[in-house]
Amino acid sequence: TLNRENQLTWHNMDITRSFREEQLGQTAKTIWFTGLSGSGKSTLANELEKRLAAMGKHTMLLDGDNVRMGLNRNLGFREADRIENIRRIAEVSKLMNDAGLIVLTSFISPFAQDRQNAREIIGDAFMEVYVSTPMEECERRDVKGLYKKARNGELDHFTGVTSPYEVPQHADVVIDTSKFSVEACVDQILEQLKNQL
Ligand code: PPS
Repeated sequence: TLNRENQLTWHNMDITRSFREEQLGQTAKTIWFTGLSGSGKSTLANELEKRLAAMGKHTMLLDGDNVRMGLNRNLGFREADRIENIRRIAEVSKLMNDAGLIVLTSFISPFAQDRQNAREIIGDAFMEVYVSTPMEECERRDVKGLYKKARNGELDHFTGVTSPYEVPQHADVVIDTSKFSVEACVDQILEQLKNQL
């Protein structure tokens, strides 16, 4: 394996994150959504991104299914693959923050340790949004028919059924989409972000 200490040297470039942020007129952030499949992560991230864009903000949305079709196409849903999935997303988010962007990520990110690692990789720019919609509601929605497949034994390692979801204990925002409209949920996140962008 590569000995990073001896073989690599970090280069400090002249155009910095703060220069890019100033150019774009914003502060870089990563808004990290976590929650069960069908909890509403993608819907909220999509609506929040539209609201930020309407405010003139420069954003990028990274979404589970989409990233798994490209960058992470070699990863599945076993524990080791989910860990690597989240690690890569955290590193990509950090790069995009370095580019000055407000990043929204929408991944189940079921393991507390991985979310903690993401928080450490991303640093102060990190904000965690736990979409706490109860599993009964996610399963009732079953938008993609995956809960049904998991219950029938046609799908292995399905979060909430045959793979764990560790509930966040330190989320910056907690939102239950079964109780509030999409707009009200997004308002709640924006309220938390106020004066930080
Ligand atoms: S993770 O746990 O963060 O690595 O998962 P993520 O990258 O967000 O991918 C979740 C989406 O993949 C689909 N899918 C599954 N999810 C969970 N478990 C299993 N076994 C599985 N198989 C496929 C599913 O569409 C998830 O999307 P969302 O939007 O969360 O429903």
